[in-house]
Amino acid sequence: MQQDAIRLDGKTAIITGGAGGIGFATARLMTMRGARVALADIAFDRAQELARQLPGAIAVHLDLENETSIEAMVAQAVAEFGQLDILNNTAALLDPALAPLDGDVEHMGTDLWDRIMAVNLRGTMIACRAALPHLRETRGNIVNTVSNLALQGHLIQAAYSSSKAAIIQLTRAIAASHGKQGVRCNAVAPGMTMTAALFEAFPAPLREVVEAETLRDQLGEPEDIAEAIAFLASPAARNITGQVLVSDGGCASHVPGIDRFRSFFSGDQT
Ligand SMILES: NC(=O)c1ccc[n+]([C@@H]2O[C@H](COP(=O)([O-])OP(=O)(O)OC[C@H]3O[C@@H](n4cnc5c(N)ncnc54)[C@H](O)[C@@H]3O)[C@@H](O)[C@H]2O)c1
Repeated sequence: MQQDAIRLDGKTAIITGGAGGIGFATARLMTMRGARVALADIAFDRAQELARQLPGAIAVHLDLENETSIEAMVAQAVAEFGQLDILNNTAALLDPALAPLDGDVEHMGTDLWDRIMAVNLRGTMIACRAALPHLRETRGNIVNTVSNLALQGHLIQAAYSSSKAAIIQLTRAIAASHGKQGVRCNAVAPGMTMTAALFEAFPAPLREVVEAETLRDQLGEPEDIAEAIAFLASPAARNITGQVLVSDGGCASHVPGIDRFRSFFSGDQT
């Protein structure tokens, strides 16, 4: 193992959703660790603007609902960089206008379900498929960004959470099929992470519920998720594949209602 195995010197990475909160934090951290990154996003203007802030970075237009666009993203990154070492699938359909429609299954619109599956699950699968021949050449790896909602039942986001749970299984399938070829595949499951967009969109009373269930004294930030992704993508994680690393401040790790227990044991039973 090299001395500083979390470094990414000489590596190249595609980050889908690179114009988003967690995607850009990941791009910035990977750049700081020595990688050249491609910020791939449907928000292409923003991706271009952000890529200009990172030495060696490029912006690539990506529409995860379009198979040709996904294949072109991989081809463009390989053409620009000459190789591909890391694919980080972080883009997801998180349109605030659609979120209220993704509730419980009884009220689920079939079109909405199909769209969420198309962007999140089908898009991720196609990106992995397009990248794998290149990753085999470099003994590279994939890190899929999922969610702690993929590991727990909730009242909301039945389609989103199901798509993320399926990406966890996709992660294991790729790890199993391609491990002997030198390719690793892992997932990072963030809990609620305070991107600027989420801070604005998420109702404060519900944020407080999550804060109470979080074992740390604050919610995660995009940089926390970037650290987990960059670690799994690095040679330091060479013995880790097919795994889900949960970065949620311990939110999903404990008995239900821990905040009420905390109040009871501290004598405050209101
Ligand atoms: N922020 C959180 O609290 C949180 C919690 C759990 C999981 N996650 C996951 O982390 C990832 C990043 O989340 P974020 O909070 O940074 O969100 P974000 O909205 O800031 O970033 C998502 C990015 O995906 C892009 N995108 C959307 N549809 C696309 C498409 N069809 N083709 C290409 N790009 C598309 C958007 O333009 C955006 O830049 C997502 O996969 C999300 O599910 C986030």
